[in-house]
Amino acid sequence: MTKEINPFIVTGNIDPEFFCDRVDESARLIKSVTNGNNMVIISPRRMGKTGLIRFCYEKQDIKKHYYTFFIDILQTSSLREFTYLLGKAVYEALLPLSSKMATLFVQTLKSLNGKFGFDPVSGMPSFNVELGDIDRPEYTLEEIFRLLSTADKPCIVAIDEFQQISKYPENNIEALLRTHIQKIHNCNFIFAGSERSMMQAMFLSSARPFYRSADVMELHAIPKDIYTDFIVSNFEKRDRHIERDIVEGVYDMFSGHTFYIQKTFNESFADTPKGGRCTKETVETAIDNMIGLYETIFREILSNIPEKQKMLLYAIAKEGDAKLILSAEFIKRYSLASSSSVQAATKKLLDRDLITETDKSYSLTDRLFAMWIKRIY
Ligand SMILES: Nc1ncnc2c1ncn2[C@@H]1O[C@H](COP(=O)(O)OP(=O)(O)O)[C@@H](O)[C@H]1O
Ligand SMILES: [Mg+2]
Repeated sequence: MTKEINPFIVTGNIDPEFFCDRVDESARLIKSVTNGNNMVIISPRRMGKTGLIRFCYEKQDIKKHYYTFFIDILQTSSLREFTYLLGKAVYEALLPLSSKMATLFVQTLKSLNGKFGFDPVSGMPSFNVELGDIDRPEYTLEEIFRLLSTADKPCIVAIDEFQQISKYPENNIEALLRTHIQKIHNCNFIFAGSERSMMQAMFLSSARPFYRSADVMELHAIPKDIYTDFIVSNFEKRDRHIERDIVEGVYDMFSGHTFYIQKTFNESFADTPKGGRCTKETVETAIDNMIGLYETIFREILSNIPEKQKMLLYAIAKEGDAKLILSAEFIKRYSLASSSSVQAATKKLLDRDLITETDKSYSLTDRLFAMWIKRIY
């Protein structure tokens, strides 16, 4: 008997069969980048940006005609690291597809001359370059763009967590990248980012180099009815039953947040025997376990927040959707100091992306974090 696949994927690439919806978003993204545009995708962390990009890369319209590249620069803090990741990603994507392009890569990246290894099996150079080997990142970056510009197919380059570049210590990185991107004609770019205010500032303020250089798409939660259908039918298909209202309850609890919903139903599915039902208790256990898993991280976040901000954070978590947070009523209810201190704390929490503002109403960006706070305070 083959082991049954859990249809709720939480890591790695998602097979189209297990990918929920994103029909309109993927059509829009594909249309944009295959027609010479660049695209920005903004959403909170783990709402599905990376998944969406990878899903589009597998579509024939893209896969057949383009070289596709993907880097996530969240952990990078300098142009050198950026250049390293990009170089590595480009080389490793090209190698299995075109030995001609891989060879051209080695020839074009003269600044890394002699730093490639050699793979005895494929007979091709291997990217054994180390971070320290890149001593002139600006120059190496230029070479990578030169290589891309000579590719025998058009290219799509996705840079995930793109807001990170604005934190690099070097000056004018945005301008430098913008210049390269503007000059290259056979490449289109996807810039994804989780820090909404930073991404918007980069692309929507006229003083910044990337101003209006790309179409902006905000990736929202998958609609409730579609996500519910997907979950219920994936249980049914595998001879298990779950009531719609249980699924809808989880959806509401996490405001449709993709990762937490996938994670909850991955575990709930695993705990439901074939021919059996997934009950409310099954789902609650899964959520409790998930909270347990993240508890250490939540504590650590709190340990780095000054008390005034923390008190405001608790107040917002308890409210769920907090309105009129500067009002005397709100300040009194949660024993906060004053409206000016709440104002200052709000700004700090927004900057750190711990809270999100929509139409003058505030909520914790991370719904699980909010649930955890509500349980212990
Ligand atoms: N459309 C989808 N259907 C099912 N699972 C998804 C979908 N989009 C994303 N996921 C899952 O949700 C989680 C978060 O998605 P990810 O794309 O990594 O988010 P982001 O890049 O916005 O941080 C991942 O575990 C991924 O497998
Ligand atoms: Mg991502």
